[in-house]
Amino acid sequence: MSATGPRTTFVPYERPVRAAFVGLGRIYDLNVRAYLDNPDVEVVALVDPSEERCAQRQADWPAARTFASAAELAASGLEVDAVEALLPIPLHADGVPELLGYGWHVNLQKPICNDLAGAKRMLNAAVANDRLLRVMENYIFYEPLMKLKEIVGSGELGEVSGYHMKMVASGRGGWDVPGSSYEWQFQQMRLGRGTLVFDDGWHKLATAIWLFGPIKQVRAWVGTTEVVPGIEIDAPTTLVWEHHNGIRGVWDITLAIDMYLRSDYYTNDERWEITGRRGYARVNRCTGRGIQQPSLEVYLDGEMRPYHALDDDWASSFRDSGRHWLRWLHTGEGPMLWNVDEAVNILRFALAAYASSASGGTGVDPDSLN
Ligand SMILES: NC(=O)c1ccc[n+]([C@@H]2O[C@H](COP(=O)([O-])OP(=O)(O)OC[C@H]3O[C@@H](n4cnc5c(N)ncnc54)[C@H](O)[C@@H]3O)[C@@H](O)[C@H]2O)c1
Repeated sequence: MSATGPRTTFVPYERPVRAAFVGLGRIYDLNVRAYLDNPDVEVVALVDPSEERCAQRQADWPAARTFASAAELAASGLEVDAVEALLPIPLHADGVPELLGYGWHVNLQKPICNDLAGAKRMLNAAVANDRLLRVMENYIFYEPLMKLKEIVGSGELGEVSGYHMKMVASGRGGWDVPGSSYEWQFQQMRLGRGTLVFDDGWHKLATAIWLFGPIKQVRAWVGTTEVVPGIEIDAPTTLVWEHHNGIRGVWDITLAIDMYLRSDYYTNDERWEITGRRGYARVNRCTGRGIQQPSLEVYLDGEMRPYHALDDDWASSFRDSGRHWLRWLHTGEGPMLWNVDEAVNILRFALAAYASSASGGTGVDPDSLN
C-alpha cells in the first residue's frame, strides 16, 4: 500500500450528506456530537441489532429510520451517502468492505483492523466501489495536543531532543461500559490485540506519527496482568522507537486497577511531554481529569507558561474530528485525517511493537512487515 491519498473519483456534495450510524453503542455518545446541529449532514438511518439501542438513539433523530443490520438498510431503498461505522473491532475487517459494497462512504472508528491482510481487503473494497474510507482519529483534534504540536513546530523549545508519553489505566471511576463491549474486548485480547496497547494505545501511536512522522524502528516489551481469573490486561508495557528524523519517543503503560480516577469518560490518565534543547511542553491529561493543572504547560528559561483557556474536554475532539469529515465531504480538500494509508502506518507501528516484543525487544522496522 502506498502513501497516497484517496484513489476515488470523489465529487464533493453540494447538499447535506445523508448519513447513517452503524453501531449505536458506547462511543456513539461522543461521535454523535459532530452530527448534532450540523447543516453539513442529515441523519437518515440508525443501524444496530439491539432494539434497545435503536430506540434509545432514535430520541436524537426522530425522523431517521432504524434497521437491525446494514443489509436491511441497503435493501430498504433509503438513500445513504456516508456511514459512521462504530462497530466492535473484530467486525471491522469484514464489516467495512460490506458497507463500502453498498456504495456508502465510510468514517470508521479506530483501529482500522487487526492485521495488514484485513486492511488490504478494506482498501481494495474502497477502490473497487470507488468510495472513501476514513479512519477517524479524535486525539489529533484535541486542542491541547494541537497546541502542543504548534508550539513544537514554532521552534520555541529548540530542536527536539526526545519525548515521552504516559498512560495509566485505572479500574475505578468514569462512565459505565456495557458488558457486551467487554465481550469483544476480551476476544481482541485473546487474539493478541490488547485493549491498552492496541485499542486505546492506537491513539498514542497515532499522535507519535502525527507529531514527528514515520517510524524507523520500534522496540517493545508487552506485559500482561491477570485482573480476574482468565482475563489479562496488556500492562505493564513499554515501547521505545525512533522516527526517520532521528527523534526518539518512549511510551509507558501502567495498570492501576484499584486507583480512582475522575473522568467523564474512560479512566485513562495520560501525558505527552516533549523536550527540546531549550525547554519542554507537556499535555497533562486528555480522556480523564487526573492532573488538575492546566491541560498544557510550557517550560522555558526558568518560567512555566500555563494554558488555561484551551478546550480540554475530550469529547470536543470527537465533535471536531467528525465535523472535519463531514466538511471534507463538501470540499474534498486537504488531509482527511486519516486516509487508509495513514491508518495502515499506525497499524504497522503497533504490529512492529508486537513483533519486537515477541522477539525479546529487538528493533523492528514497521515497513518490513508483510
Ligand atoms: N476514539 C476513541 O477514543 C474510542 C473510544 C471507544 C471506542 N472506540 C471504537 O469505537 C468502536 C465501537 O466501540 P464501542 O465502545 O461503541 O462498542 P460497543 O460495544 O459499546 O458498541 C458496539 C455497538 O455495535 C453494535 N453492533 C454489533 N454488531 C453490529 C452489526 N453487525 N451492525 C451494526 N451494529 C452492530 C452493538 O449492538 C453495539 O451497540 C470500536 O471500533 C472502538 O475501538 C473508539
